[in-house]
Amino acid sequence: MEVRAEFGKFYDVQADALVVTVYEGEKADEGALRELDERTGGIISEMLGTDEMRGKQGDMVYVHRPGNLRAARLLLVGAGKREDFSLDTIRKVTASAARFLRGKGARSMAALRRSQLDIGKSAQAAVEGVLLGLFEPDMYKTEHKEERRIDELVLLAAAAGSEDELAKGVERGRIIGEAVNLARELSNEPSSTLTPSELAERAKETASKFGLDIDVLDEARMKELGMGALLGVARGSDEPAKLIVLRYTADETDPNVIAIVGKGITFDSGGISIKPAEGMEKMKYDMSGASATLAAMRAIAQLKPKTNVIGVMPTTENMPSGRAYKPGDVLRAMSGKTIEVINTDAEGRLILADAISYARKLGATKIIDLATLTGAVSIALGTINVAILGNNKAFTDEVREAAREVGERFWELPMDDDYREMIKSDIADIKNSAGRNAGTITAAYFLREFAEDTPWVHLDIAGTAWENERKPYAAKGPTGVAIRTLINYVCNHGAKA
Ligand code: BES
Ligand code: MN
Ligand code: ZN
Repeated sequence: MEVRAEFGKFYDVQADALVVTVYEGEKADEGALRELDERTGGIISEMLGTDEMRGKQGDMVYVHRPGNLRAARLLLVGAGKREDFSLDTIRKVTASAARFLRGKGARSMAALRRSQLDIGKSAQAAVEGVLLGLFEPDMYKTEHKEERRIDELVLLAAAAGSEDELAKGVERGRIIGEAVNLARELSNEPSSTLTPSELAERAKETASKFGLDIDVLDEARMKELGMGALLGVARGSDEPAKLIVLRYTADETDPNVIAIVGKGITFDSGGISIKPAEGMEKMKYDMSGASATLAAMRAIAQLKPKTNVIGVMPTTENMPSGRAYKPGDVLRAMSGKTIEVINTDAEGRLILADAISYARKLGATKIIDLATLTGAVSIALGTINVAILGNNKAFTDEVREAAREVGERFWELPMDDDYREMIKSDIADIKNSAGRNAGTITAAYFLREFAEDTPWVHLDIAGTAWENERKPYAAKGPTGVAIRTLINYVCNHGAKA
């Protein structure tokens, strides 16, 4: 998709459709809406306030040959209350408009800037919105596949003088939008093609294309390192496990390194503690933590922040077989801790345990892990909020702030020491499942044992990484949640602490 900025008048712009946002309760009595009303023979003032266009988010009116405009169509989109208007509104409005217009066969859309928000950030949000909105999870469709595209986005800004800022915003929006969509493609890909080895290949391609260092550990090296937890999970699968490590170095003399650690279970059958058949097909997305890590690392390589970052992706299948690990087994993790396996379906925390230890060994001074870790998080927060937990308040607060800034919703769950009691084992140091109560917290507590004294934040994205309902601004399927937060954290907060 081409993106171009124009500083002229909205009625002169050449595009298949002109997109104009309308605030709740707004009248066509001043500014751009008034001008638009005059040029369209009064249809705007006639329409505003009717049930068709109250200005609420989601309201849309599509007009053909709108009077004295160069664009062939006019799309009015409700933006909600003016005082609530934010970059997130821009993202949603442009996403909804792009999806709608693509459905009508439009190839180019022009979006009129109406708010006073920072121009670079607004441009970034608009580009992100369009790219994210147009994602479709239909890569294997041969019929009814969405072949229509928006080829051109025109950003209409009223006044010249900010071309530089705007161009930078567009570039950032493109990098971030494309990264998030890469992760969504990977999460959507069947486990038969996206095996751990294939994920490692994709990471290698990304590394060489964008200039990241990469190391892929095979099972022999994991064994040397004593990664009994990761190898325990891998035992049931015929696909060899891989531990993928990407490295972005901003400054070799800086001892600070942020590690992003993402769960990469390419298929979670549950193993011997096998899952019910219903819904199991979705367990291909159990590598959404890893795909998010890969995507964030790619964007970081392009955006070049001043912070050192490593991305660690432990990746394997979780399968039942004659060689699979079993309930009652005791695994010895790389850190030396012993783990009693209560449930082989609680595999994510096992592979992350060794990945977190390895991140520390590589010199991580801060760790953010993200994982489709527990079904319990959907019970607590649904598909709306990511659960965030951590061992360091300042760090947790900063990641929450990074999320808030990009319009992603994170909700903190408590980590009282008392929860530690729940993961005690009779035979080993800890056990991998404490049952249903506080499932998201006990899983996080398990990970905390491996982060030890390194500042660490855990994001449980099991509820939010997949959306079952189609939205005006997004297809159903993989969402790419938390990636924009990770990028924002690394680029705009990471260097400070
Ligand atoms: N990958 C699942 C969690 C999950 C469930 C992700 C539903 C997305 C949707 C994870 O490995 C798992 O199976 N967790 C168990 C843990 C339990 C056995 C302690 C769960 O949540 O049921
Ligand atoms: Mn599982
Ligand atoms: Zn899992």
